[in-house]
Amino acid sequence: MARKFFNVLSDTTLFLREWIAHPQRTGSVVPSSPRLAAAMARWIPSDPESYVLELGPGTGPVTEALLQRGLREDRLIAIEFNETLAATLQKKYPRAHIIAGDAWLMDELLKKISVKSVGAVISSLPLLNFTPEQAAALSGKIRTVLQPQGHFVQFSYQIAKKRTRGGDDFNLVASQLVWLNLPPARVSVYQK
Ligand SMILES: C[S@@+](CC[C@H](N)C(=O)[O-])C[C@H]1O[C@@H](n2cnc3c(N)ncnc32)[C@H](O)[C@@H]1O
Repeated sequence: MARKFFNVLSDTTLFLREWIAHPQRTGSVVPSSPRLAAAMARWIPSDPESYVLELGPGTGPVTEALLQRGLREDRLIAIEFNETLAATLQKKYPRAHIIAGDAWLMDELLKKISVKSVGAVISSLPLLNFTPEQAAALSGKIRTVLQPQGHFVQFSYQIAKKRTRGGDDFNLVASQLVWLNLPPARVSVYQK
C-alpha cells in the first residue's frame, strides 16, 4: 500500500516537472486516473498476438491498465516524445517496445521494428493543443497502421463533444464520460 502511494507520488511529481518544462506538449498537469486508464484499456484486441500502439504514454497510467487488462508486455508499442518519460517507462516495462519519438512518424517508427499493423491505437495525445490539420494528419497515419476491425481510442477534456479532434475520418462506435479524473474526460472510440 505504502509502496503504491509513493509510486503514484513520484509519477505525479515527474509529470508535473515535465509539464512545467513543456506545458503544450505534456497537455495536463497530473497523470490520468486509474478509472480513465481502465476506460481506455477496455478496447484492446481479443487476439493475444495483436500489437497495441499507445501514443503519449507519459508516466504510464494507461500502459499499466493495458497490461492489467491482459495485453502481453511484448505486444505493447508506445511512442512518447519526451525522452525522460520514455526512458523511465522502458525501465518499468523492459519487454515492451517503448520508442522515444514523434507519434506523427508512427509509420516509419513501426517499420523500424518490423511491425506492419496494430490491433488498436490508444492515444492520450493532447490533440486540442495541435491544429485541426495536424490532428487530421495524425488520423491519416492511424488509418494506415490500424487493422480493419481495430479500434482507435482517444480521450479529451472537451467533455461536451462526443467526437475528439482527429476523429472525423472514423466511425464513432462508443463514447464514455469519466468523471473520476482531473479534469473529467471523455473517451471516444472509433473504427475505420
Ligand atoms: C496528456 S499527457 C498523457 C500522459 C499519460 N498517457 C496519461 O494519461 O497520464 C500527453 C503525453 O503525450 C506526449 N506527447 C506529446 N506530443 C507527442 C508526440 N508528438 N509524440 C509522442 N508523444 C507526445 C507528452 O509528452 C505526454 O506524455
